[in-house]
Order: sequence, then structure tokens, then C-alpha cells
Amino acid sequence: MFQSPIVLRVKKRQKPLEDGVSRPVKVKFEDVRLYLVERKMGHSRRSFLTQLARSKGFIVEDVLSDTVTHVVSENSQALSLWTWLRGCDLKNLPSVHVLDISWFTDSMREGRPVAVETRHLVQDTVPVLPECSTPTPEVKVSQYACQRRTNTENYNTIFTDAFEVLALSYEFSEIEGQCQAFRRAASVLKSLPSAVRRLGEVQDLPCFGEHTIGIIEDILQYGHSFEVEKILSDERYQTMKLFTSVFGVGPKTAEKWYRSGLRSFSDILTEPDIHLNPMQQTGFLHYEDISRAVSKAEALALGNIIDEAVHAITPDALTTLTGGFRRGKEFGHDVDFIVTTPEPGREKSLLPDIIDRFKQDGILLYCDYQASTFDVSNLPSLRFEAMDHFAKCFLILRLKANKVEGGLNSAEEDDRGWRAVRVDLVSPPMDRYAFALLGWTGSRQFERDLRRFARIERRMLLDNHTLYDKTKNKLLAATTEKDIFAHLGLEYLEPWQRNA
Ligand code: CTP
Ligand code: MN
Ligand code: MN
Repeated sequence: MFQSPIVLRVKKRQKPLEDGVSRPVKVKFEDVRLYLVERKMGHSRRSFLTQLARSKGFIVEDVLSDTVTHVVSENSQALSLWTWLRGCDLKNLPSVHVLDISWFTDSMREGRPVAVETRHLVQDTVPVLPECSTPTPEVKVSQYACQRRTNTENYNTIFTDAFEVLALSYEFSEIEGQCQAFRRAASVLKSLPSAVRRLGEVQDLPCFGEHTIGIIEDILQYGHSFEVEKILSDERYQTMKLFTSVFGVGPKTAEKWYRSGLRSFSDILTEPDIHLNPMQQTGFLHYEDISRAVSKAEALALGNIIDEAVHAITPDALTTLTGGFRRGKEFGHDVDFIVTTPEPGREKSLLPDIIDRFKQDGILLYCDYQASTFDVSNLPSLRFEAMDHFAKCFLILRLKANKVEGGLNSAEEDDRGWRAVRVDLVSPPMDRYAFALLGWTGSRQFERDLRRFARIERRMLLDNHTLYDKTKNKLLAATTEKDIFAHLGLEYLEPWQRNA
């Protein structure tokens, strides 16, 4: 957003930044934490002013967060600055001093933070309606995806695709805040009922700041964004994107390979010092197949196969299609299922049994099985965990063409009569079903906002296992997704409205 360009904050291991961030200077004013807004000020001036302030004992934060007490901008328009600040999700925004550069120069001259006067303030401006106009009932867009309806139709792909490139690029550089900022803004755009045609339409949206608005402005004006083009032609970005497209290769491994000079798959596969783990080996082996989208017909066929296997094992088991296909998507990168049985404890051995059957049927190409580590007495979990504790497996299955209505989604010249498909299975205990279903239905952005909403607006903790009310100090029971929405005081959203 108002940040230094990514290249400057890529890695701590790089040589010290030009603005001397890493040089230790004695802090004189502990209670004052500055944040300098880069947009309009420019990168080199921001670096210069940062260094100046730090040399005088001021704390200058690189990233805007709740610790910041003074936001300083130069030549910024009050409206767009405040729009951005409001989208930054700061809990203490009302107590932050939002200041013009004059406060900063006064303070530098005095060698201490001067008292804030009215002339220093960038006043919060609320757009005023012309007196005679009838106020139209404004449909306010929520900053939380769980308070927006987002179906599979996206009228703003031209913008959201650009945002995804930026988000990914920040993700590769481990700049989490910026990455999320672009994902949140993209998510807001996905919920709109039509394409954005004028800049004014996004200026009042939540989660939009100067950086995101700037990108929209470029695309509206020139048809594309120069910043995005630059990333797309960047060798590191291209290589990271290529390497992480392999099943089993995350950003850490991709980065390591990139740093050792590798640029292509053949570089990796011919390098004797590289040892691929079984997941990565399978990833390369079935690369063509598993990087090809899975169709809805294929997902339904896999549903039948899994259903058959599950019922042969325990007749009263339940298979539920979840993930993107439950949200109504036509294509996905995998197919996700929840399998449960009403018999307590049986869910722990269900997946190994299913896996055995797949093996016998000769359709198991790869299996990463993770046994359950779920323990009711550990609820609620107070620390954030990326994965839930239920038994689960990440599979690659061999799907035959004759099982799929209308045939496989494979290349025209492909006459093998089968394809490899990624399948995820999760097996929670029955009494956790609603939480698991809500968590595995996604989208990822929807889940993130649901948890954020629960935490910030309701003082509750939500994860794939449970919902905990911190005010009442108790776990809240739920047998359906509707129960969970009700506990959170949210209007119920159908799965196909959760494509945030
Ligand atoms: N999920 C999870 N724990 C995991 C893996 C996935 O809770 N270990 C959840 C994710 O948060 C997501 C859902 O399962 O909400 C589906 O994940 P995924 O298959 O990655 O995404 P989809 O939305 O199904 O998208 P796609 O169609 O590309 O598969
Ligand atoms: Mn999926
Ligand atoms: Mn999945």
C-alpha cells in the first residue's frame, strides 16, 4: 500500500537497506512511534526522512500497525488518506495522530516531538451530500467477507487478477501485511454485482488504500498496471511461481532452489545435489495431470468412488463434498471430501481403511496420511494453527475416463483413458462435523474473515474444531453451519455465497 517497493524488503539477509534501517540508534522518545506514508512523499524522500528522524532518536516504523502513534503524510489528499487508514483495520485509529509533514519538520527542527496543533492535522473528511439531493439508501459493503455475498461470478477479474499477482509477489517476499491487503481488496471486488468503471466506485470501499486504488486507476486509464507488468516479467517471480506449482513444493523450497541458481524443472531434475522428497517426486511425475483443473463431472465421479469405498467399510458413514465444488465452482485444483461415521472413535480408523481399499483397487497413486491428533480436552486452542487436528489425507488418485460423465478433462491427444487427480479427505468426529464442514468449505479468504470477525467483533475464537466465547468463557455447541452463524450473530450465507 504505502509501503516501500517489495525489492527493498525482501530478505533480512540482504545487505543493509539504503535507508539504514538496521543501524542501531539510541531511542529518545519511547512513547512516539512514527509511520511515514510513502505515496506522494516518494520512496527516496521517505528513506531520507526516516533516517533523519531515527538519527534524532525517534522511532520510525516501517509497517503501519497498532503500535504507531503518529502517521505523517506529505501532499496526501485527506479523503484518500483517511479512506486508506480506515481500511487498514487499526483498532486504535481514533487515537492515532494523522499529521501533515509540517508536524514532522517542526519536530525535526526542535529535536523532539512537538505538541500536535490543529494546523498539523490532516482532518478526517466525510463526503457531504448536496443539500437538495435525496439521500439514496447506501448499501454499505462490509470489510468482512462473512458479511458479503460472493457467488462464483466475478465481474472484476481484470482487477482481481492483477491484485493476485501483487499478493503472490508479496507472499514470495514474506510481506504478510501487503499480501493480505491485496487479497482483502480483491475479495471485496469479487462481491460486487458489476464491473468497476470509475475510480470513484472503489474510493469508498473498505479494504482499499492508496496502493490498491492506484493499481485500479492505472488499469482504468491504461488497461493494465505497470507495477504488475514489472512483476510478471521478473525472473524471481516467474521462477517462484513455476516451482511452487509443483505438488509438495512450498515457497521455502522454491526460494532455496532459486537462490542456488536453478530456473527450470530440468535444472532441478538434473542437479545431483537435489533430493526430492516422495511428495515432490510424485508432484513431478504427475505434473501435467495435477496442474490441469478438475471438472465438476470429475469431482462427482470421485464422490461416487469414495462413497462406494466408504459404504463397503461402514454402511452408516457419510461422505460430503466440500471445498470449492461445494461452493458451486465448475473447476478446482483438487476435490475435498469430509467422511464421518456416527460411531464415536471409528472416524480414527476410517481413512486408513479407505486408503487400503484404494490400494487394492489399484487407484492409489500417492498418499500422505496424517493421523488424528484431536483431543477434546485441548479445546479451545488459543494459538493460531494452520491445520486442524482431524485425521486427514492428501491423495493422488487414478481416475478412469469411463467413470466420468462426458469424459475426462484431459488434453485432446491424451489417450491413456485415465488421469491423476488430487483428492483431500478429512475425517472429524461426528460432533465436530459442523465446524469441520464450515472450515473446509472455504474459501480461504472467507474463513480468514470469519475468524477475524469472530475475534474482533464478538470476542470469540473460531476454528475447524469449535467456537469459544471468551466473554462467557464457554464452548458453543453446533450441529449445523446455521448454528455457528447464529452464535456469531451473522446472517446465514449459503456455501455458494462464500466465494470470497
Ligand atoms: N483447509 C483446511 N485445512 C487444510 C486444508 C484445507 O482447513 N489442511 C480448508 C481451506 O481453508 C479451504 C478448504 O479447506 O477453505 C478448501 O481448500 P482448498 O482445496 O485448498 O481450496 P478450494 O477452495 O477447494 O479451492 P480449489 O477449488 O482450488 O481446490
Ligand atoms: Mn479444493
Ligand atoms: Mn484441498
